Amino acid sequence: MSEISSGAVLVTGAGKGLGKAMAIHLAARGFRVYAGVRNETQAKALHNYGPQLIPISLDIDDPVTVEATLQRIQKECASTFVGLVNNAAILKGAPFEGLDSVIMQKIFNTNLVSTALLTQKFLPLIRKNKGRIVMISSLTEELPTPFLGAYPATKTGLSGLSDMLRRELAPFGVFVANVEPGFVETDMATSISSESGAWLGVVPKEKRTEVKKVYGAYFSPVHVEYLKQLVYSMPGSADEVAQAVYHAITSRTPYSEYLLSHHGIVLRVMRVLPDWLVDWYLWLLVWPGPLDPVFFQ
Ligand SMILES: NC(=O)c1ccc[n+]([C@@H]2O[C@H](COP(=O)([O-])OP(=O)(O)OC[C@H]3O[C@@H](n4cnc5c(N)ncnc54)[C@H](OP(=O)(O)O)[C@@H]3O)[C@@H](O)[C@H]2O)c1
Repeated sequence: MSEISSGAVLVTGAGKGLGKAMAIHLAARGFRVYAGVRNETQAKALHNYGPQLIPISLDIDDPVTVEATLQRIQKECASTFVGLVNNAAILKGAPFEGLDSVIMQKIFNTNLVSTALLTQKFLPLIRKNKGRIVMISSLTEELPTPFLGAYPATKTGLSGLSDMLRRELAPFGVFVANVEPGFVETDMATSISSESGAWLGVVPKEKRTEVKKVYGAYFSPVHVEYLKQLVYSMPGSADEVAQAVYHAITSRTPYSEYLLSHHGIVLRVMRVLPDWLVDWYLWLLVWPGPLDPVFFQ
């Protein structure tokens, strides 16, 4: 595989968090980066990082902005477009039983369906230029913990798509990598661990009393505290994720999978353990304890 050292790339969801870090990292190393954003404030802030970083209005759920982005990239850099980084995603945590069905569909849609459709749209360009596609998945794909709703399923789906595409596109010189960040303190990550009562906002009003009665003691402030201790004990960094994306796009020998942060090392070990042992370990880590017999009725 030949090294890629320059060209144009598109990073979706690049207005904040990890996507922004990736976009800045790639632009600082000479790539022309189209950074997908959904609001003007984020676009303006990106202008501070030089002419190589180009904010572009892109909502991946909106086919009109997806088409406009493709048209612009085709017009401005048809022969140099070498990378698509599928970073945009949402996470809404709650007990699965109570998760609003519209929100659940939205999560599947943005994280998986829209990402797949956008990838399909950009494929001819990527294939023509023997480029790279990078999926930003998650370590939750390896270890889905309770109350993450539809999110882990979408990330596992993305990983399957990544493996399938890599094999399908190999004859054309296109490489597809799956990057699995560990916990990094961004808006998404803190939304799940900051307010223990926040999840009720994604449960329809008529279900709240019942869901709170059933899951309230389990998904409690104590549980959230345990969860925080677990994730904050081994945080990853946005820089580490950006470096992995850069490697996946540029290296002569990119990896099919980037399992990041210290959590990644733990999860590598967990992969070879039986499920019952992992379930038990997780139970010990996140259970608010002492165990309440109500859960075993
Ligand atoms: N942070 C972590 O600990 C962690 C761990 C594992 C994996 N990840 C993955 O890393 C990626 C980035 O997450 P993050 O932590 O940086 O989250 P974040 O701070 O919430 O950023 C998510 C980005 O996605 C954008 N986005 C959401 N829906 C979109 C849509 N329909 N169209 C276009 N953009 C959309 C958001 O735009 P707005 O600003 O307009 O909402 C935002 O820019 C995600 O794929 C996430 O699953 C994160």
